[in-house]
Parts: sequence; C-alpha cells; structure tokens
Amino acid sequence: LNYLTAVDRQSIADILTQGLKRLEYRGYDSAGLAIDGDVDREVLIYKQVGKVAALQKLIQEQNTIDWTKTFTSHCGMAHTRWATHGQPSPINSHPHRSDPKNEFTVVHNGIITNYRELKLVLEKKGYTFESETDTEAIAKLAKYIWDSQKGNKTLTFTDLVKGVVKELEGAFAMIFKSVHFPNEIVATRRGSPLLIGVKTPKKLKVDFVDVEFGGIAEEIPAEVEGAPAALSSLEVPKLRRSESRAFLSEDGLPQQIEYFLASDPSAVVEHTKTVLYLLDDDIANIREGELRIHRLRRDDGISSIRSIQTLEIELAEIMKGSFDHFMQKEIYEQPESVVNTMRGRVNFDTHKVTLGGLKTYLPTIRRCRRIVFIACGTSYHSALATRAIFEELTEIPVSTELASDFLDRKCPIFRDDVCVFISQSGETADTILAMRYCIERGALCVGVTNTVGSSISRESHCGVHINAGPEIGVASTKAYTSQYIALVMIAIQLSEDRTSMTARRNEIIDGLHALPGHIKEVLAIDQELQRLARDVLHKEKSLLIMGRGFQNATCLEGALKIKEVSYMHSEGILAGELKHGPLALVDENMPVILIMTRDSLYPKVRSALEQVTARKGQPIIICNKGDDAINAESKTIRVPQTVDCLQGLLTIIPLQLLSYHLACLAGVDVDFPRNLAKSVTVE
Ligand code: G6P
Repeated sequence: LNYLTAVDRQSIADILTQGLKRLEYRGYDSAGLAIDGDVDREVLIYKQVGKVAALQKLIQEQNTIDWTKTFTSHCGMAHTRWATHGQPSPINSHPHRSDPKNEFTVVHNGIITNYRELKLVLEKKGYTFESETDTEAIAKLAKYIWDSQKGNKTLTFTDLVKGVVKELEGAFAMIFKSVHFPNEIVATRRGSPLLIGVKTPKKLKVDFVDVEFGGIAEEIPAEVEGAPAALSSLEVPKLRRSESRAFLSEDGLPQQIEYFLASDPSAVVEHTKTVLYLLDDDIANIREGELRIHRLRRDDGISSIRSIQTLEIELAEIMKGSFDHFMQKEIYEQPESVVNTMRGRVNFDTHKVTLGGLKTYLPTIRRCRRIVFIACGTSYHSALATRAIFEELTEIPVSTELASDFLDRKCPIFRDDVCVFISQSGETADTILAMRYCIERGALCVGVTNTVGSSISRESHCGVHINAGPEIGVASTKAYTSQYIALVMIAIQLSEDRTSMTARRNEIIDGLHALPGHIKEVLAIDQELQRLARDVLHKEKSLLIMGRGFQNATCLEGALKIKEVSYMHSEGILAGELKHGPLALVDENMPVILIMTRDSLYPKVRSALEQVTARKGQPIIICNKGDDAINAESKTIRVPQTVDCLQGLLTIIPLQLLSYHLACLAGVDVDFPRNLAKSVTVE
C-alpha cells in the first residue's frame, strides 16, 4: 500500500486475511501474516493452525498492540499453507523469519529441493532453525547474505534477494519483507505462479521508463485511460534491459496506489482487475508506490517488461450465492458453463467448430504420429472420456497418461508427437513438468485449461481455454464437463477435412446443442439422488461403480468424486474386467452402481449386470429415460439419451450430486476435503 491518506493497521490486516480467505479453496492447513509493528522497523508475525478464521480470531485477541495505528506506506504479507515439509503447526506456517527479531520475513509457495544442504551450511555458520520447513532456509539465507555484507551501504533489497535466489533449487513464488528495508517488498518466482494487481483510485497518466542497468536508457510516455493498460504494447527499442519501471502519476503528482501480490487472481479481484503476471526469474521490487521489475540475470535476453492484463472474473463468480457450497453451485452451473465452453466456437447451423487457439497449428496436428493426453486427477478422466471419439474422428492413435507416471517412466516423446495437457488450474506441478519435458523433446504442446494466464496457457504452443468460469470447490465438477467438451471440439475440428466423418460430426454437434437442456433434466432429479444417498448409501463403507466403453471414465470419475468428498471407499470398475477379479467383491451386501446406457456396448453391460445379480448383487442402474428393457424392480437413475460419445456428460452428473449429498451427510466440509488441495503446485 502507498497511501496519501493514512490507513489503520486493522484495515491492512483485514485486506490480508480477506485475500487469504479467497485462496482457502486451494487447500490449507494453517495461515499467518506479517505486519508492521508500533515502533520503527518492527515486524509482527501472527500464525495459526486451521482456517483463516482462526488466524483472524488470534489477531482480534492481540490487545497489546494498537490496531488503530495508521500508515501512509505499508507492506504486509500473508499466506495459507498446505503442508509439504513438516506438520501443520504455528511454527511451520508462514511467514517464516530469519531470526527472533524478524529481520527478514518470507512467504513461499513451492518446494526448495536443496533446502537440506542449505540448512546444513547455515547451521554450521551458527544459524538456528525453529521449523521443519524448507522455507525457513530462504529467510535464514537472506539474513546470512545481509550479515556477510554488513557495511555494504549499496546493497539493495533486490540484490539481496537475487543473491538468495541464485542459491535455490526447486520451485517457488516468494515475497520478502525486511526491517532493514522498510516499506519495501521484493517478490520473485520460478515455477510457481505469482501476479501483481495494481489499484489506483484516479485516472492515471502512465510514464513507462525502461532502464538499463546503471542508468536510464529510454523514456517512453503513454497516456492511458483509467489503468496502466497494455504496457507491453508500447513499441520499445531493442535494448538490453535489466529493469523496467512504471511510474504512476496524475499531472505529475504522486498517486495513491496499492499493489496486491498473489498466487491466484481470486485473491485480488475484489480490489483490482488490472494485473501483470511475473515470469520465472523476475524479481519485482515495490517501494513507495513504485514497481520495478528486474531479471535475475541481466544477460538472459528476456525483457523485463510485463504486459498488464485485465482480469475477466467477477467477484460474484467466486462467491457461493444462494448455494450451501461451491461444489453444489458448480454442479448446478453446468447448463451455463458448457454453453460458455462452446460459445463462439460451435456453429450449430453450419455444423462447424472453430477454435481460434489452434488455428495455425491444425495442419501440424493432423500430420502427427500420435496424440498423447497428459493430466492428473479429474482432468485425466476427461482425457479418458474422450479418447475413443478422438481416435474415431481423427484416426490418429491417442494415448492417455497420468502426468506423474509419465514423468516417472521418462516416456519416449518425439518431434512428431502432439501432447495435450489438460488442467483446470493450469498450475498442477506434475502436468507442467511433463509439458516442459515434451517441449524439450520438440513435441507440439497443446494446453487445455480453465485459467487464462496460468503456466500451462503461457508455456504451451497453442491451446483451448475451457471458459467454465472459476472453479472453487476442491472436487472438480464443471471443469470436467467443460474439458470433455473442449476435447470433443478439438477432435471435431481436426477431422473437418474428412468427409466420411461428416454425418458423425453433425450428430455430435446436434448432441452438443441439446446438452444444456439435457443437463437441466438431470439436475431435476437431485432430490431423488439426495434420498438415495440418505436412505441407501450413506451408511455403507464401500461403493463399486461399473461400466464400459464411453462410460469407463464416468465410473472412475464418479468413484473419485465419492472418495474425495465423502471419504467413502469407492472404485470405478471397467465392466469388461469384472470377471478378472472385482466380481469376488460382489455379494448381497456390496453396493454397486452400474452404468447401462443405450450404446453399442449395451448387450455387454447387460451381461455384466447378470454376472452381478447372479451373485445376489442388487445394483442401482444409471440408464436412459424410457429404457423399459430394465427390470421394473431395479433401482434406476434415469438420464436423457444422447449421442454415445456425449453420454458421459450426462451420466457423471448424478454421481457428482450423489457424492455431494454423501459428503453433506458425512459432515464433511465439502469444499475443503481433508488432505486435498485444489491446485497441487508441488510434485
Ligand atoms: C487436484 C484437485 C483435483 C484436480 C487435480 C488436477 O487433485 O483436487 O480436483 O482434478 O488436482 O488439477 P488440474 O488443475 O491440473 O486440473
């Protein structure tokens, strides 16, 4: 913050904790913040285990400090932690400090892989560690550099952080604060996301100054309405840059300006929609209202000018509205979110699909030797769900890979491969690493993500944003259906030069047209599903979900939903494999859901049903409306019939709803299931 009018400490703490609350959905086990103290050059740290509300309570209880004290310039930091090294505890939560006087404080996302070596060296030099975290080594290292440079009056905070970063291996997004550099903050990243939101209350005149190390090289003024938009679009001469600087002023007068640094836009959107994303090895320095971006190494040839973007998400989109939970809201949003995925891309009259993000790459993709889908969790299931239609329409072999296993195997990848990375967040560490691995080997990398500006959307060669809107519930629901549709759209577009497939493409596009209505029909049976959860399944220990063909992915995704939010054991079983093992689990007590929709495999699923009933199993059958071949005594969940390859978009919804109700009945904090995070930014 850099204010012309003073702001009280309570308001600053509120801004920080509110920002944390917006990030809670990503997974958390503890939280903390650092704020300036009462005396000059004093930093106070508060940390608490549990939700952000617990941290807020802890702060409220601090009666010994004056919360009404005001500041005209202030740098605070806060963090929610999801444990990687060390148990959730106040001592292990962030901010971490260099010493009991809090000379340097750090918040960090990611993992420092060489922290043990750093810790050993620093301990030998007499630094004592208080936590079990990797992050503490960063704070201690900052102090070590400071101590060893004592007397060096020219040492800047930026240079000090550069010194720290040069020693670090692994992934990080970090923010530094120091009593030695009051009202100054330094932020940097490598591998983990970090953005800076800029908020100014008045119209701005932006002077953009590009600085070569050691002196001003060029001054480029630009008049910008409202916010410092599109700095990158300025024509800048090709200079070797080590630092870029944005002065924000109106009529040459100093401006009130606030900067919000965050790993996720949802933490800043209520303050500003004007953001810039830092790149790997950017070192951003904010001091007295001025932002400067430096590069870690001056000679890496990368400009330090970052484009300023406007966020498209609305605060309302990340609020629950009238729903009890985000997961429920997101399940119910699907009639609209699927339309948003198709908007401007599918023409239902001409039966054409146009994906702007792939355009120039289509010929290359069509020529490729094979397509490899790579993803984790639910995103992986969307790959499984669409693999068959992809192969059918394109006649290109498609394989599906879990990113972690793909990396473990060091899978052979070649220049004529096309690799598709599917990720809601665009920040899943395993998926990003797999993508970098494929880029190195010369494959064409296509991103399918829900997050504009995410690492995957920036680093892939081309791709498709699924436009499902922010997904907050840890258990992914609407992103799944939108990823599914995005992949089907890609397959349709790739096959558009194959006339033999015209009828099939038209049939699918008609199916997509009817989809929102069909989803609404499924949502209408919610009460039935709630009763089923309460009266039949709630007390059970385990649930098997069986199906085959297009429905195999639904079984796996349905079982994942059930275990992640209700903690009930659940397994998705390929019906074709039933007799090779899982049938041994079936008896009159084992709850089974069987997906038996009308497609070419219907007779084979019927035989699976017979195998189950012969063992006294009484499956609940997910089938199509109007299918009267199904025994009237069976419990059924009926969904509208659609094209075979889209049927999975409708069969997954009852399972999403069932898992939601089972979670509520089990008393689980649905949006924050234990041990899970929305965005797994560590390997
Ligand atoms: C985590 C989330 C899942 C998600 C998976 C992949 O495990 O809890 O909901 O499916 O990560 O995330 P991504 O953002 O890459 O789709």
